[in-house]
Amino acid sequence: MNILLTGGAGFIGSHTCVELLNSGYGVVIADDLSNSKIQVIDRIEEITGKRPVFYKIDVSDKPALDVVFKENDIDAVVHFAGYKAVGESCTKPLKYYRNNLDTTLTLLELMEKYDVNSFIFSSSATVYGADAPVPYTEGMQTGGCTNPYGWTKYMIEQILKDASAANEKLSVVLLRYFNPIGAHSSGKIGEDPSGIPNNLLPYITQVASGKLSELGVFGNDYETHDGTGVRDYIHVCDLADGHVLSVKYAAEHKGVQEINLGTGVGYSVLDVVNAFEQANDIKIPYAIKPRRDGDLPEYYADASKALKLLGWSAKRDLKAMCRDSWNWQKNNPNGYEY
Ligand code: WQD
Repeated sequence: MNILLTGGAGFIGSHTCVELLNSGYGVVIADDLSNSKIQVIDRIEEITGKRPVFYKIDVSDKPALDVVFKENDIDAVVHFAGYKAVGESCTKPLKYYRNNLDTTLTLLELMEKYDVNSFIFSSSATVYGADAPVPYTEGMQTGGCTNPYGWTKYMIEQILKDASAANEKLSVVLLRYFNPIGAHSSGKIGEDPSGIPNNLLPYITQVASGKLSELGVFGNDYETHDGTGVRDYIHVCDLADGHVLSVKYAAEHKGVQEINLGTGVGYSVLDVVNAFEQANDIKIPYAIKPRRDGDLPEYYADASKALKLLGWSAKRDLKAMCRDSWNWQKNNPNGYEY
């Protein structure tokens, strides 16, 4: 079977590519490299001994994407391609709606043309919105998103539900990620944000490497066990395993399934700092800063549906996530840039 990964050169896409190749699938990557580097393809080959087919294209470019379907016998699509910076989505909403929705609609039109009927979507816990009680369960009301990025995920889920309702052959799995961190144990692929990292773990690893001087902790006055924000961190390799099982599931079932991919355990910012220091024997200096706009105090997954439906549960703990994040950063102080 051949699996098309849009945005497959990115952080989660590249880790999913490794696990799909290791599981015997053929992989085709379509990526415009706007938020990833071509070196990722070489690293994937170094890890697996296999090289994915690669197309440098804008996934919303229909003639270009048509070539990908024409030249490869695609059996399923995993759609990672999309802009994902929460803050940027607030200052450039049209860029986010245009790109994230257009890539999805172009994909669906070509999947219909080439009779490809399995669609796994990189969704996000952000679709549960600001008022959802924790733990988040898949049957909960979604919407009430707090930024355009989150709304694009919500809208794409709706597009896919309508597309599947109109085409009984189309099988859709909506994977709602929590907070993916960590890296492949080889240290050859990992998270490589451009500029100052927005997310916690890449910021911590750049403090550990000396690139940044100290971590700013965004608020310690939340109603949580230590006042700092609580999230459900999940190892990116566990997330990748969830995608492999979802490809198998989609091939054997019809209709739409929303599935949380989280550990079901929430850790605070200071829990993560402490775990990182212990896992790597490195001190992380930090200072308490004001809360960040849009941040929620606490959320984590009810992960029981993934276990029931896919036989999946997270295997790697927070210490492994912190150890693997640092192993990647230590071996690649400037990311993929040589
Ligand atoms: C985690 C915690 C911060 C940075 C976002 C998106 C989500 C998904 C994952 C794409 C929070 C605190 C962070 C820092 C800090 N993205 N923090 N200092 O905001 O939970 O989720 O990334 O799919 O959709 O919303 O992740 O890593 O930015 O923050 O104190 O320098 O760390 O306040 O409590 P977040 P994050």
